Amino acid sequence: MYYKVKYNEISVNYLPELDGGGMTFGQQYLSVIREKVGRVGHAFEYCAGPGFIGFSLLANGLCDRLTLADVNPAAVKAVQTTIRENRLEDRVRVYQSDCLDDIPATERWDLVVSNPPHWDGTEESYREAIRLVDPGWVIHKRFYRDVKKFLAPNASIIFQESSHATKRDDFEPMIKENGLDLVEVFEATPPKGRFDFTAPQWVHKLTRAIAHRTMLPLEKLLMVPGVEKALKDNDLYRKISALPGLAPTQFYFMWSKAQPAAAVSARATNGSTASHVPPPRGGGSRVPPAGLN
Ligand SMILES: C[S@@+](CC[C@H](N)C(=O)[O-])C[C@H]1O[C@@H](n2cnc3c(N)ncnc32)[C@H](O)[C@@H]1O
Repeated sequence: MYYKVKYNEISVNYLPELDGGGMTFGQQYLSVIREKVGRVGHAFEYCAGPGFIGFSLLANGLCDRLTLADVNPAAVKAVQTTIRENRLEDRVRVYQSDCLDDIPATERWDLVVSNPPHWDGTEESYREAIRLVDPGWVIHKRFYRDVKKFLAPNASIIFQESSHATKRDDFEPMIKENGLDLVEVFEATPPKGRFDFTAPQWVHKLTRAIAHRTMLPLEKLLMVPGVEKALKDNDLYRKISALPGLAPTQFYFMWSKAQPAAAVSARATNGSTASHVPPPRGGGSRVPPAGLN
């Protein structure tokens, strides 16, 4: 028996143990996609879990079609139930896939979104917590290595990452090595009404260093089945966690794009390694926010 969260006309099925935050901070994608990319034809959610992010984009008219994939069969089953119950068979597909290994070669996406596992760790810690740990960054590395063949011209990839766990330098080489351009690293606009205080850089560095040591054990504890059930399996949690003003603020977005073929061939001819950076849409700043360097 699933819980349900409703995004306009779409009712999304989930279990607490499949939730990786897409229902709370993952909803920052709505304003991000509106501001940076606009409506697209075909969106893909990588490491989708129950598809909170993808279904919310679809329900809000930010994509016409949606494809989702996750390695966990329980997550895929929840998505299949959502597709069936909402009669979305003609617009939504889901694949069980370890990274992009089992995605059909015919898939072409205009936008890729993902709230992937955010913490580096061992294989053993990955097996204990597949929502949290990306062992040796293989889930990111294999994605950036393989994604190009699935991208439509001008497609965008926007990943949501945690500044408690990582910084842009962890991902920038993976993006560039695989012939993608890093367009922008940015934070979501804080929701209206949130107290907006810009702390000095040293405060960001200190809090990030402390969080880096303390947050993974805490997040793991919160995902122990009994603890997670006790904490999340109630209406109060569901109501509170959906309040935008209470969404955690440690998340940032890495926006990359395939290099246009013309720019790649010009670079090969000139021997230039300079990166093509198209102008931001919606006036977004390309200066990384404090604490993301
Ligand atoms: C942080 S959770 C995000 C879940 C959901 N997207 C959300 O926002 O709530 C990370 C997801 O990555 C999935 N995952 C872990 N390893 C994977 C792999 N090798 N291939 C595909 N998905 C994977 C997990 O099953 C989990 O659903």
